[in-house]
Amino acid sequence: MTSVSFAGPGDEPIVLDVATPVAQVRVPTTRRYLMCPPAYFTVEYVINPWMDPTEPIDTALAMAQWTALKETYERLGHHVSVIDPQPGLPDMVFSANSGTVIEGRVLGSRFRAPQRAAEAEHFRRWFLANGYGRVVMPERTNEAEGDFTWTGKYLLAGTGFRTDPLAHSEAQEALGVPVISLQLTDPRYYHLDVALFVLADDLIAYYPEAFSTGSREVLRRLFPDAVIATAEDAACLGLNAVSDGRHVVLPVEATSLADEVARRGFEPVFVDVSELRKSGGGPKCCSMELRD
Ligand code: ARG
Repeated sequence: MTSVSFAGPGDEPIVLDVATPVAQVRVPTTRRYLMCPPAYFTVEYVINPWMDPTEPIDTALAMAQWTALKETYERLGHHVSVIDPQPGLPDMVFSANSGTVIEGRVLGSRFRAPQRAAEAEHFRRWFLANGYGRVVMPERTNEAEGDFTWTGKYLLAGTGFRTDPLAHSEAQEALGVPVISLQLTDPRYYHLDVALFVLADDLIAYYPEAFSTGSREVLRRLFPDAVIATAEDAACLGLNAVSDGRHVVLPVEATSLADEVARRGFEPVFVDVSELRKSGGGPKCCSMELRD
């Protein structure tokens, strides 16, 4: 029990119990996501340490898990647009890698792996067909929301495995937002969105061990109240989560992360993404946010 004491009128101090502060009320805002059904999902090449082509993939199960994720967003009141999947592009389900949309401005993507390169053009066409007038395609390797996280104030930008650091200044120029570069150092956490996510304005959760010493200092400076994830939370890709300001959609295995966000007043919403994780993905990878 927490207590405070004051000097009393006599010799005895006055001791008062202070109730545990009530967690802040978290208010959701309606979001729009662009998702791509995993109709052609499989693991047939290796571009991150999670992928093992000898492990069997159940595409029907991946589809069921993806559908449950989409229905979770809809149940929470969000809008989901769907892009057509393409044969031969098994990672197209990870739509977050194909565009960064802030205030209606779109920065497309340019993949590092040749196996994924063709995805960028399908998404570029989707943006043009769906009324986005300001679409810029990057010159430098840029895996979009895989490495770019918009906090509402800054664009946190990862590099080290995929996105070229020169794509960070390109993003700042194309989107007109302040970019903060962060260095990723652990190949299991090859994208920023498997090491960090935004819970609410000015509040993030992250796994410090995924970042260089200097980047950890930057994160500590900018977000002193951040939720710090455990190694177990990170290892189930628990940080590949999606918050609407109140509800936090995250993998069912991320139990201590869920407890911690609940203590901060958020509502954890669990999803099973076991099949998609075999490719190194989770809920956030499957959900590009359309900030119109
Ligand atoms: N197999 C995909 C790749 O390595 C997974 C991408 C997951 N997406 C993400 N936003 N982390 O490119």
